[in-house]
Amino acid sequence: MVSNQSQFILAFIFLFFLPLFSGKISAHRFDHGQKVSSQFEFIKTLQGYKKGDKVEGIKDFKKYLERFGYLNPNYPSHDDHFDDILESAVKTYQLNFNLNTTGTLDPQTVSTMMMPRCGVPDIINGTTRMRSGYIFNQNNNFHVKYAFFPGQPKWPKGKKVLKYEFGEGTREDVKDPLGRAASTWQPYTPFTFEHFNVLDQSDIRVSFKSRAHGDGKPFDGPGGILAHAFWPTDGRLHFDADDNWAVGAVPNAFDMQSVALHELGHILGLEHSSVQDAIMWPTQPAGKTKGLNDDDIQGIKALYAGY
Ligand SMILES: *[C@@H]1O[C@H](CO)[C@@H](O)[C@H](O)[C@H]1NC(C)=O
Ligand SMILES: *[C@@H]1O[C@H](CO)[C@@H](O)[C@H](O)[C@H]1NC(C)=O
Ligand SMILES: [Zn+2]
Ligand SMILES: [Zn+2]
Repeated sequence: MVSNQSQFILAFIFLFFLPLFSGKISAHRFDHGQKVSSQFEFIKTLQGYKKGDKVEGIKDFKKYLERFGYLNPNYPSHDDHFDDILESAVKTYQLNFNLNTTGTLDPQTVSTMMMPRCGVPDIINGTTRMRSGYIFNQNNNFHVKYAFFPGQPKWPKGKKVLKYEFGEGTREDVKDPLGRAASTWQPYTPFTFEHFNVLDQSDIRVSFKSRAHGDGKPFDGPGGILAHAFWPTDGRLHFDADDNWAVGAVPNAFDMQSVALHELGHILGLEHSSVQDAIMWPTQPAGKTKGLNDDDIQGIKALYAGY
């Protein structure tokens, strides 16, 4: 028989070491897996849930969907109920990401939702969907899935140069990748991109920010949201300073040039695309690089047609 006192001590030891063990497990995954643990990890615990269920975590899941435009911020039931409105939001998400529109949190949906991604919502003011540019070609089988922001904001006609500059304290090693990303877009736009060293006279202002940083769109530490940018003619482009950045395909790190290419797409006026190979697809895995896809090129040409 173990005395009450030693039971207490055993329980104490167990509680003391438990966090150390779990810390070790996640550190191990960080070293060897392609996954970076993030604010989106909790979604894994919701796998298999569907309409009618009530489980802890649904409330946070509603905040996740709200953040990316799938739920209206005025949506009344910020609780743990998986209700009709939530089911329809999940279906819209599935449609945007080419998943089966089951409305349930099936494994494919959960793993897509856990991917690191851009902070720009997929749906803005409830007026657009990622498929808003969806058309058929003459053979009725090619889908163009680029999208614009509501009202199609773009840089004005007659503008020839987009000047970009880096905010104070921006890491030096992003400067070349950002320049290369700008040169990648350039031939498909009416603009030339020029590095200009006066920040407040530049069209595009690039910086690294951490957590809440004054624009109402806080970053979230490692993983989760990687960066965001504003539509024309705002010009702000922010990288999450807490993410692990690299130049090129480096395991467990995000390629600055690929993310810059995506964010410059927003700066130019493109919204998220439903083409997975497009740079304007919302997620970006660690350890991978990505370039422009025909969908991106068609989108930017359509936006600036007639310039
Ligand atoms: C969609 O459902 C089919 C049939 O159940 C399955 O084979 C396929 O893998 C699913 N696709 C996705 C993207 O979940
Ligand atoms: C969305 O609505 C807000 C508030 O009405 C407005 O300030 C913003 O410009 C709108 N965004 C777009 C892209 O239309
Ligand atoms: Zn984006
Ligand atoms: Zn920001």
